[in-house]
Amino acid sequence: MQRLAPALREDNVPLDLISLIKTILAATKEISFRVSQAHLGGLMGSTLDENIQGEVQKKLDVVANELFKDILLESGFVKAISSEEEDTSVGGDKNGKFLVSFDPLDGSSNIDINSLIGTIFSIHEAPEDAEPSDPDMFKQSGNRQVCAGYVLYGPSTMLVMTTGSGTHFYVLDRTHGGYLLVERNVQVPQDTQEFAINMSNQRFWQAPMQRYISDLLAGDTGPRGKNFNMRWIAAMVGDIHRVLTRGGLFTYPSDNRNPEKPYKLRLMYEANPMSFLIEQAGGLAMTSEGRIMDIEPSDIHQRVEVIMGSKNEVEACLGYYK
Ligand code: F6P
Ligand code: MN
Repeated sequence: MQRLAPALREDNVPLDLISLIKTILAATKEISFRVSQAHLGGLMGSTLDENIQGEVQKKLDVVANELFKDILLESGFVKAISSEEEDTSVGGDKNGKFLVSFDPLDGSSNIDINSLIGTIFSIHEAPEDAEPSDPDMFKQSGNRQVCAGYVLYGPSTMLVMTTGSGTHFYVLDRTHGGYLLVERNVQVPQDTQEFAINMSNQRFWQAPMQRYISDLLAGDTGPRGKNFNMRWIAAMVGDIHRVLTRGGLFTYPSDNRNPEKPYKLRLMYEANPMSFLIEQAGGLAMTSEGRIMDIEPSDIHQRVEVIMGSKNEVEACLGYYK
């Protein structure tokens, strides 16, 4: 099994980006350890604070965020970072070549039940002349990502990453402390009989999503002529990992629970990096109106509708919106 750096050099990834990726991965190894020790170290449960998005912060959210932020800002490779847990972007090195957006611990509601959680990251190039304190640098579409990935803290700690030449799986080998390449050029099967959606929101969805899901539930005697299985891990990292591994459709559609907040997932550090990984593996990553990675962001915490996964199934779903 190949080590990470040689695998990246084979994909012609520039040396400074490799150095940044190694820095990110150093942080994930530390987070992986902290996550495994959380109960023993008194890190279960919530803090008394909310993040800017009105979500209660878990103690581990805060620890993971501080670790990730400190390691990145000290590295010299990064002009600024933006995180789910920070109100606005945080400036780094004036000469830093990159911008990193991240969700330090995705799936926080799984922390206290010892279930799947992970770190998601997305890397853009920083404009040369911009000041590190300028949050507008982050307003770049997903198309301009130079690298995206996540680390899943599951039974094994896995890195799934793309630099634009395919999506690859790596596993953290604790015997030597590095990530080893276990699967190159993962492909999402084009067809599937599995979907992932939070069914409890059904009454709030728009009519096209209502019709689509009801046709899936109708099974082999319904219009789709086949039975579908459903899975919901409640951590996007876990659900997307299953889709990358064996196919499926993952969606968090728009809903009318709160008219001011029709979408749940965040563009910069959830939807965009996952879209890059899914598209590089031959899948589709869309909203009901177009490609996620074409969206020109207006805010670092912007939310977006997400319909992604197996190509033919995403197209079937979008057909209901025409
Ligand atoms: O980060 C948001 C998130 O936790 C995702 O990881 C996950 O897919 C989704 O929200 C879960 O939403 P819900 O709480 O509706 O199940
Ligand atoms: Mn998240």
